Amino acid sequence: MSLLIRNARILTLAQGARPRRGKELGDLGIIPSGAVLVADGKIVAAGDKVEAPADAEIIDAQGRVLMPGFVDCHTHACWAGDRLDEWEMKLRGVPYLEILKKGGGIHATVKAVREATQKQLAASLRDRLGVMLREGTTTVEVKSGYGLNTENEMKMLRAIRRAAAEWPGTVAATALIGHAFEGELEEYVRMVVKDMLPEVAKEFPDIAVDAYCEEGAWSVEACVRLFEKARKHHPIRVHADQFNSLGMVPEAVRLHARSVDHLEASTKKDLILLAQSPTCGVILPCTGLHTDQRFTRSRLFIQEGGALALATNCNPGTSPTHSMPLAIATAVRFCGLTPAEAITAATVNGAAVLGLTDRGTIAPGQRADLILLHHKDERTLAYELGGNPVDTVICGGQKIA
Ligand code: NIG
Repeated sequence: MSLLIRNARILTLAQGARPRRGKELGDLGIIPSGAVLVADGKIVAAGDKVEAPADAEIIDAQGRVLMPGFVDCHTHACWAGDRLDEWEMKLRGVPYLEILKKGGGIHATVKAVREATQKQLAASLRDRLGVMLREGTTTVEVKSGYGLNTENEMKMLRAIRRAAAEWPGTVAATALIGHAFEGELEEYVRMVVKDMLPEVAKEFPDIAVDAYCEEGAWSVEACVRLFEKARKHHPIRVHADQFNSLGMVPEAVRLHARSVDHLEASTKKDLILLAQSPTCGVILPCTGLHTDQRFTRSRLFIQEGGALALATNCNPGTSPTHSMPLAIATAVRFCGLTPAEAITAATVNGAAVLGLTDRGTIAPGQRADLILLHHKDERTLAYELGGNPVDTVICGGQKIA
């Protein structure tokens, strides 16, 4: 059966399936009052006059905003345990990298993940995905990275696949096989490249491969070694310049990474280089909100024509949130984005980071992942703090809530 959402303020974002760069981020392709027809999980028509079959189910939007579902393109939403004690330490001033160096941080979650079964990991991820969906996220990337050995990285990736199968939205898994290390870095990297990467590739042939380039985590040389091998078969992504600018950005551009994520400590030169390259920049402003109030100089990146995406970075250490509306509200307050730019970064540009061209816009043939807000003005998404702006979620053409 078909579904018609009528009398809506529609943010189509429809100017072709490609990442928006620079000034384009501000163009939401608005139809002030129109309708969207959905059938068989896809958008059939969108415009100010849309014909619908007589038996179509009708939703009257009453002038409220209808837009693409959020695409959260950077999360570590599969984890076990909690980091509440560590958070109290941070509140008392102990830095993140010092906790990591002493075997806490990522390593604390690694311990909890190793102790959890695949079924337990899948169940807790499934719960988080449920909350995300109610707040409008219809596509989410979920990274491994808390296994740190082949057995446990594979357990995480299988748990992500299992949770994804039970969720109406789309989960894009990423193999974060360079998140931290045990023992000597050089030997560890050798093991990842020789053993872990082939194991991952065998079972997850198209998966993106990611690493964390940072002091106390992976060096630039280690990341490059992994990526030179991985990029032959996988898209590559990298966490870079979160606390220290180590020189990963030029390497990521050279290696044609799909994205460089974080960028809080990037130099002006590197931000401009990235902005002028095909690689997307992903900002994670809830991380600064939760940890140390440092944010990416996103205005510069946009002014230089960069393709910017925005994500939650949902994880137990630096960003304990699943909320794209909060990411939008934070990006507008602390990264200098306009509400329209933040909406573009949270939808079509997030999809581009994941290599998905069938979503993030409202146009015929696109997957019918739509959200109807409670509000008539999309700027309320950025203005409101802490509420759920989403009234109705339509995911793959199905009305969810
Ligand atoms: O992107 N910094 C590296 N990875 C995550 C944090 C993971 C954790 O602390 O558990 C991030 O912030």
